[in-house]
Amino acid sequence: MNVFLYLGLLILELLFLCGLAAYSVGLLYSSIMGAPYVPTSKKHIDEILKKANLKNGQVFMELGSGDGRLVRRAVHVYGVKGVGVDINSLLIMLSKFLASRQHLTDITFLNRNIFNVDFSNADCIYMFLMPETIKKLLPKMEKEIRKGTLVISHGFKITGWENKVIHTIKSEPFSTFYYKV
Ligand SMILES: C[S@@+](CC[C@H](N)C(=O)[O-])C[C@H]1O[C@@H](n2cnc3c(N)ncnc32)[C@H](O)[C@@H]1O
Repeated sequence: MNVFLYLGLLILELLFLCGLAAYSVGLLYSSIMGAPYVPTSKKHIDEILKKANLKNGQVFMELGSGDGRLVRRAVHVYGVKGVGVDINSLLIMLSKFLASRQHLTDITFLNRNIFNVDFSNADCIYMFLMPETIKKLLPKMEKEIRKGTLVISHGFKITGWENKVIHTIKSEPFSTFYYKV
């Protein structure tokens, strides 16, 4: 085999392994910091967003945005201003790439911990996080979220907000819970 071809293949293999390692570390980090990367099923996104009654110009924030599929769809279909926040920089890079491919301009992706982001200008917050993370986030949400904000929790109920539930989409394996603050 030609030595250059051999070296080329070796470099490609190394790049692939480095990419795989970075991806795995990112997934592990996501899990430790609040929730593993498990995206919302694409077939449920439109039904979830429809029930949110989003209005043009409102601020839609996705906490732990993964590949940004909810916030990208909300910006694309409802003309909201989108903010996606995720701790995993690879997912943020992917979200930015996908948003630019869709020519979405009114959208921002922050590579941050959700515990360090201000929620006060959100009109609607979407999250798909682990119950323990939601529990830890609750005092911050109660302090910062404006009255009238819609909070959508996919997968898990927000314990302590039973009196704020306005709607539930029952589904397997994950239901979606709507809260009016
Ligand atoms: C279950 S996934 C949901 C992804 C996306 N929202 C969706 O529904 O397709 C949870 C996401 O939260 C992110 N995450 C976990 N803990 C976080 C934290 N403390 N700050 C920011 N993002 C976090 C993970 O990286 C992961 O992408």
